[in-house]
Amino acid sequence: MSQLQQVLNQIDSDQDNALNRLFELLEIPSISTDPAYATHCVDAADWLVNDLKSIGIDATRRDTPGHPMVVGHSRKNSNPESPHVLFYGHYDVQPVDPLELWHSDPFKPALEQTTNGQVIRGRGAADDKGQLMTFIEACRAWQTINGELPVNITFLFEGEEESGSPSLIPFLKANKQELVTDLALVCDTGMWNESTPAICTMLRGMLGEEVIITGADKDLHSGMYGGAAQNPIRVLSKILAGLHDDNGRVTLEGFYDGVPPLPEQLKQQWDSLCFSATDFLGAVDLSDAAGEKDHTALEQIWSRPTCEFCGINGGYTGEGFKTVLPSRASSKISFRLVGSQDPHKIRRSLHNYIEASLPADCTVEYIEHGASPATVMSIDNAAFEKARKALSDEWQTEAVYIGCGGSIPVVGDFHEILGMESLMIGFGLDDDQIHSPNEKYNLSSFQKGIKSWARVIDSLASN
Ligand code: BES
Ligand code: ZN
Repeated sequence: MSQLQQVLNQIDSDQDNALNRLFELLEIPSISTDPAYATHCVDAADWLVNDLKSIGIDATRRDTPGHPMVVGHSRKNSNPESPHVLFYGHYDVQPVDPLELWHSDPFKPALEQTTNGQVIRGRGAADDKGQLMTFIEACRAWQTINGELPVNITFLFEGEEESGSPSLIPFLKANKQELVTDLALVCDTGMWNESTPAICTMLRGMLGEEVIITGADKDLHSGMYGGAAQNPIRVLSKILAGLHDDNGRVTLEGFYDGVPPLPEQLKQQWDSLCFSATDFLGAVDLSDAAGEKDHTALEQIWSRPTCEFCGINGGYTGEGFKTVLPSRASSKISFRLVGSQDPHKIRRSLHNYIEASLPADCTVEYIEHGASPATVMSIDNAAFEKARKALSDEWQTEAVYIGCGGSIPVVGDFHEILGMESLMIGFGLDDDQIHSPNEKYNLSSFQKGIKSWARVIDSLASN
């Protein structure tokens, strides 16, 4: 029996333990954006350090001004030709609210039978703890069978991915020597569908900005002052409404600078995926693509930039009614970016637009929430085809190259700071409800994901 086959068998026989280890990690509420959960982020980092140590990786927790990083190095293996890769994942998760929409405790993970097979339910199951553990489990099995890994591996786990990665760039710069490898492997993306594995070649960038409009120095009675006093909700709504035109285009000056047309070859490749907008939207009870009118739904999520409002706040939002004219109103705005759109330039353009729209008696403040440009991978690198073959072997379905509407800022930073390409492979599905209540990860994603990585690292070891 080949060594790879022994590793795959080992993965099968260790399934229950692998699941229990994932559950332990899922129980830690490592919500990075909320300072109240900071100690849990440290706990998750420590858990990972110990788990890596248990498979012979020399791992340490690296404290940063924010949440810690985890860095580990495998012992050099016996093949002097062996490539060296860096694996990246994130242990932080998104907030759980609205909590009342969860059918179970987000941090009491459980296996659940659904009409579509078994799923692992819990915050972080798919984004990204379950995915991250697919890689560690693959390494564990290789270590058990072979006593060493087929390639040399550096591990990097981040705890701030979901909150704009403020410590990441300084950390990469300060630890460049230690972190540079031949290639980065990233497990934080999805499959094309339940049966078709995928390698993601494009990510959108992101600019996050919170805008706070203030009028009067206190909340006012809306009868006594209404009419004469500025209402920050009204001012904010008008500003937000002005950010799109009737064709779904963003109106900010210079916004489309650097947005490339879709190359014909890529368009053909995407056409061959036979994406159905009706199915994609239908699955979440929608029917009509709401983006730029002259672009398909797939382009709207993969290759076109957007401006979306992720939160809005102001006035009385509790039960019942209160006649109040609020002093403040705010919104959290996210821009997804493509091509060479410059997040900093767009931030300036947003500020200019808002300040030009502000009436007398209103002021504006901003809170910045990360700015990262889009990234496109070149699939010329031989590793991409090796990995695609390994994935196809595991899933018995030809793996495809896909785009991705989400953002993983580290991928751009690996390229800029460490000069490394990233191979993005993940096993998430559109219906995993990431960032939303009742997040899940299919048990098949977890189990076959582990075997996929076992095969991918094997494929990378050979010429
Ligand atoms: N795993 C996601 C990115 C993703 C989403 C990949 C959907 C594939 C499909 C990642 O954890 C994420 O959510 N990133 C944030 C980054 C942001 C806060 C800078 C995102 O995209 O909103
Ligand atoms: Zn996420």
